[in-house]
Amino acid sequence: MVKKLFIKTYGCQMNVYDSARMADVLAPLGYTPVDEPDDADMVILNTCHIREKAAEKVYSELGRLRSLKDRKARQGEGMVLAVAGCVAQAEGHEIMRRAPCVDIVFGPQTYHRLPEMVARAARAADRTRAADRNRVGRGDCGDGRGPRLGVVDTEFPVEPKFDFLPEPGARGPSAYLSVQEGCDKFCTFCVVPYTRGAEYSRPVADVVAEARRLLDRGAREITLLGQNVNAYHGAAPGVVGREWGLGRLIFALAEIEGLERIRYTTSHPRDVDDELVGAHRDVDKLMPYLHLPVQSGSDTVLEAMNRRSTAEDYRRVADRLRAARPDIALASDFIVGFPGETRTDFEETLRLVRDVGFAQAYSFKFSPRPGTPAANLPGQVPEEEKAARLAELQALLKAQQTAFNAASQGRVMPVLFDRRATRPGQLAGRSPYMQAIHVEAPDSYFGVIAEVRIEAAFANSLSGHLQTAAGRARPWESLAVAGGPPA
Ligand code: SAH
Ligand code: SF4
Ligand code: F3S
Repeated sequence: MVKKLFIKTYGCQMNVYDSARMADVLAPLGYTPVDEPDDADMVILNTCHIREKAAEKVYSELGRLRSLKDRKARQGEGMVLAVAGCVAQAEGHEIMRRAPCVDIVFGPQTYHRLPEMVARAARAADRTRAADRNRVGRGDCGDGRGPRLGVVDTEFPVEPKFDFLPEPGARGPSAYLSVQEGCDKFCTFCVVPYTRGAEYSRPVADVVAEARRLLDRGAREITLLGQNVNAYHGAAPGVVGREWGLGRLIFALAEIEGLERIRYTTSHPRDVDDELVGAHRDVDKLMPYLHLPVQSGSDTVLEAMNRRSTAEDYRRVADRLRAARPDIALASDFIVGFPGETRTDFEETLRLVRDVGFAQAYSFKFSPRPGTPAANLPGQVPEEEKAARLAELQALLKAQQTAFNAASQGRVMPVLFDRRATRPGQLAGRSPYMQAIHVEAPDSYFGVIAEVRIEAAFANSLSGHLQTAAGRARPWESLAVAGGPPA
């Protein structure tokens, strides 16, 4: 019987990858992904714990799902409600206590065991129903008579989940591939080392095999993922005891026919080695865009954050990358109002932004996270001050992004069409520099890389026209146009 599976994903790309893999794991049990939770047989919230706001969203969403689940129960139907991801890992038992309608809680490292968890939850639900028959009223979700017997699996297993995951299903033209997980850096503000666990790199052979399978299923672009992806050090193929870094892995992946574009995210400035810089210089398929979070431009703050690199180190890394690939577009993350951050520290951040110049950036107010060292540091910055600094930084970053986009106007760029735009007759894609581009194009261009002349630039996107008349169609382009969109 076909069962409907709704997965809602919060947080980073790693969670997007994990959600897709959860769907792969559940497919053999008859679960098919749907776009709405309303009549789903199973709902998974794949959650993010990085900032307070992100974590709190889970509880409000659970409130809504609770009514859905109750409604289904009244119709005599069941809904398995599961919470996955980093909130699940950080506060699994708290979730079970606050939201008794949740059946399963599992962390980012255990989702390969989902079939077994679903079976255990079903047995527990049967037992509850049997008990309910002897009680007055219905034993609906969260009826205040104590929690149901939920399943919690937030272990960090010794064996990596990757060894147990099935083949990946279809992912579209642009696919994510996790190559590295967890983090050993322990920046003082960050929950990731606690929610994702210790750093782990998948063996090169596994990564290459998964890349090939993604290409077989229609991918043209692969983004290598890791919380600290450039700390990658995977077992080398065929040689026991040898390891490859990310640069070497990229050189190897670039050899695979059919793979047109390679990206990776997220990187740490400390782990940009010469081989990686060399890949940016020599591998055409490696896109000239790099998300390299710096967090702050003040050395005092960077030290308190335990980033173990200075603002000058960052400037040097940017220079090395630009020497190797002059058109590389840099993106970053910033935190304002870290404990002890003075106005002068903040101005150092503004200065770094002006010096380096970013094509894109994410910036956040420091959010104290339970269990992290920075949460208890003295000198917490008042909320209004954080908000004012954030607004100032964002104005500067937005001006840089707008200028970067404006400079694209009139240029012709290869665009990978990886989404159907909301407006009919349009496709959406990405430039090599990660800019979102909307173009009037027939559906046969979906999954195709085609040259586009950029006509208009906005703060967050570009629009343009297909440059077909110039006869610059590439071999795969004419193939796809002739043969229709990839299945
Ligand atoms: N691995 C990446 C970051 C992953 S978290 C790195 O090393 O840079 C994504 C971003 O969330 C971070 O870059 C940081 O800017 C932001 N972030 C993490 N913890 C935060 C906190 N406690 N408060 C505010 N922003 C935070
Ligand atoms: Fe968090 Fe720092 Fe690790 Fe990035 S490097 S995931 S910010 S601890
Ligand atoms: Fe959030 Fe976990 Fe990713 S905390 S940013 S979902 S690793």
